[in-house]
Amino acid sequence: MKIFTLVALLAAASADQFRYEGYKVYRIQPSGEKHLEILLELKNYSELDFWSPLHRDGQPITVMVNPQKQHWFVGLLNKNAIRYEILIDNVERVLLEERFRQLFAPRSQQGRIDFTRYLRHNEINAYLDQLAEDYPNLVSLETIGKSYEGRALKLIKISTDPSANKPIIFIDAGIHAREWIAPPVALYAIHQLVENKENLKLLDKIDFHILPVVNPDGYEYTHTNQRLWRKTRKPGTTCVGTDGNRNYDYHWAEIGSSSSECSDIYHGQHAFSESETAAIRDHVLQNKNRAKLYLTVHSYGQLIVYPWSYTTELPEDHEELQTVGELAAEGIRSVTGTKYRVGGSTSLLAETAGSSDDWAKGAAGVALSYTLELPGGGSWGFDPPPEKILPVVVETWEGLKAFHGYIEK
Ligand code: ARG
Ligand code: ZN
Repeated sequence: MKIFTLVALLAAASADQFRYEGYKVYRIQPSGEKHLEILLELKNYSELDFWSPLHRDGQPITVMVNPQKQHWFVGLLNKNAIRYEILIDNVERVLLEERFRQLFAPRSQQGRIDFTRYLRHNEINAYLDQLAEDYPNLVSLETIGKSYEGRALKLIKISTDPSANKPIIFIDAGIHAREWIAPPVALYAIHQLVENKENLKLLDKIDFHILPVVNPDGYEYTHTNQRLWRKTRKPGTTCVGTDGNRNYDYHWAEIGSSSSECSDIYHGQHAFSESETAAIRDHVLQNKNRAKLYLTVHSYGQLIVYPWSYTTELPEDHEELQTVGELAAEGIRSVTGTKYRVGGSTSLLAETAGSSDDWAKGAAGVALSYTLELPGGGSWGFDPPPEKILPVVVETWEGLKAFHGYIEK
């Protein structure tokens, strides 16, 4: 055990680890409008880190609180008779365990995929490169832009006949850095579509465009420095990073986003201020006439939600969105019974303006637009242990195929 501790300490020393020492995570059980209003207000405090989305329907909400604020926070909950329990007593301890697992997980061969651990961004891009080399008739890569720190945003196009201009299913993942389970879902879809011959027929009528890591700077930062980082890494004047999922130009900077640079839901200096979101904008707009489904993968919550997110109103075609969402949920459920709830974003969650799903539908005109909130994992949420990766990606793949089946028809 000693050598383990030593290695962990060394790994930790190189980054700003131990920064979550004494942080606690509370599971809050709001009841009624008043409680929800209080929580909405609390969402503006940059010191409170909401791990789950703000559910509207009485689902518990998890919040991480630093040691200095815990007394105040608990006092406030008590004063308002909001029920809570402590989900994690010391976040640093849980993170240390995860670091052990990552550190000692076996490495895979360069350019090969595996779903037994969380890959680094360079490994993910190496896998895409390898596929392009091995399957030139099926795969082409397009670097649609660069992250702030200069990492290539490699989008993979999977098509049996690019000249046929088939309808496109667009999938992105990893706009929120800490949601580690999201990129593997995109990677598994890529792996199945390209490397499993049985799935070739899925490409008869449809092309896939997949960007597995939207926010590689943030993603790498969660590996090297701060596990729970969410935003991009472009510095502002007082704090670093923008919430990519508040940075899209559709009702930008309205409800459910923050103008404070230090907030985790900072909407950025202007819409598409981030090179990462701007790259997606350009790509989707270039392909807008063919794009039939926009799907963005997040964690956690076991939800499939559709626009609008900036208002409690629903789009005209909400019945179709609901039906198709339910098909996908049923696909997922059929594997081992994992239940997703399906609904308009604001019927299940609090409003978030400037999000990518709203933009894809409202501005780019992609009729079917969804956010997938994958299951959480472990005792908390952003941290499904490596052995959970495979079951999650396998069941989610069934959901993706259900989406595909609908679009093909
Ligand atoms: N959890 C995600 C976020 O905070 C999305 C929540 C619902 N909003 C949406 N646009 N689907 O960005
Ligand atoms: Zn997210």
